[in-house]
Amino acid sequence: MRILVVGGGGREHAIIRKLKESPKVDKIYAAPGNGGIAKDAECISIGAMDKEGIVAFSKENAVDLVFVAPDDPLADGMVDTLLANGIRAFGPRANAAIIESSKVFSKNLMKKYGIPTAEYETFSEPEKAIEYIQKRGHFPVVVKADGLALGKGVIIAKTMTEAKAAVKEIMEDKKFGASGNNVVVEEFLTGPEVSVLAFTDGIALKPMVSSKDHKRAYDNDEGLNTGGMGTISPNPYYTDEIAEICRKTIFEPTVAAMNSENRTFKGCLYFGLMITPDGPKVIEYNARFGDPETQVVLPRLKTDLVDIVEAVIDEKLSQIDIKWSDEATACVVMASGGYPLAYKKGLEITGLDENGQVEGAEVFHAGTKLEHGKFYTNGGRVLGVTGKGKTLDEALEKAYNAVKKINFENVHYRTDIGKTK
Ligand code: AMP
Ligand code: GLY
Repeated sequence: MRILVVGGGGREHAIIRKLKESPKVDKIYAAPGNGGIAKDAECISIGAMDKEGIVAFSKENAVDLVFVAPDDPLADGMVDTLLANGIRAFGPRANAAIIESSKVFSKNLMKKYGIPTAEYETFSEPEKAIEYIQKRGHFPVVVKADGLALGKGVIIAKTMTEAKAAVKEIMEDKKFGASGNNVVVEEFLTGPEVSVLAFTDGIALKPMVSSKDHKRAYDNDEGLNTGGMGTISPNPYYTDEIAEICRKTIFEPTVAAMNSENRTFKGCLYFGLMITPDGPKVIEYNARFGDPETQVVLPRLKTDLVDIVEAVIDEKLSQIDIKWSDEATACVVMASGGYPLAYKKGLEITGLDENGQVEGAEVFHAGTKLEHGKFYTNGGRVLGVTGKGKTLDEALEKAYNAVKKINFENVHYRTDIGKTK
């Protein structure tokens, strides 16, 4: 098989390395890929949003399957375009990817179908949002931009002043662009967070092993929200009992709700959950694999990923038995100093071998480029370093030992992955 993976981050690198293990795969392309991906696949200079470019390339190069990994091309209908051109594609159509691309849609879906989530109201006018927050008079309160904002469009306001500033930033200053035309104002929930990715073909749903992201930039969960600074799997708070509650009250009802709305979801559905004192609730849905969740989940997958992907496309997921390793995994993200705000690019990365790896761990490249055999930084999140072990402590030790061998100017990583609640 010839497979094209759309995207160029750490998640895509983890997907490609897993696809590469399949005896069915002859060739993998990445559009656009990155410096580390170039060691595992052929990178082509077509942007992840270039639908026509991807279709043309797939036809010219007899690509058998396109794996669309990032949120924007999914929301923009890349899968629809591929299918319309007779090309097999993994990922939801745009009418289902909306479960991530519009928080107003997903909140209303949960309300309509009784899926547990934080209480909320949605607004298209800033004055109405502020009026509501004032009347509610209860802090903290959570203000979210409706659309895609790289995981950064969520503001937890502790006072009325902060809430007003949040509404202004999102709706008037348009800090997240058109994503802020509408806002969701919601109840602040407490409890440990869990990420559960699940394969679904719209009929069956098969959850993958659980994981836990660390979204804040600095240790002790301080600093700004980021795309994710590190992950562990399994998530120690996700017991079998909670998993069963989630299956019954959240996972299966979500698949059924999307079918009832004529928006059948096929692909990887990501449940961002919080285990509150009142039970598990949905914080957000994503229409794709998480980043950096994928970097701890897929290394534990024992079943051929190509078989699973094909079963999802062909609506035969119920026929597949998916096996996972019992080992724990931990991923530490090495970021450019300054991320998620401004940072420098083009800094030489030292300590990696010629394949962009280090011994004792698996290195997933996110923002890197390869020039004359050397790796350079090329983004905010630069590398995700994943360790594997019998226990979480062992996995963390391996990840951090590998991290210590790698360096670039102003490198920043959290030192407490797996240690916070
Ligand atoms: P989201 O982009 O919706 O996943 O939100 C980003 C992060 O903000 C989440 O991972 C939570 O840590 C936090 N968050 C979002 N919504 C809430 C909420 N209702 N209560 C408490 N924290 C929240
Ligand atoms: N790590 C969170 C996400 O992928 O949205």
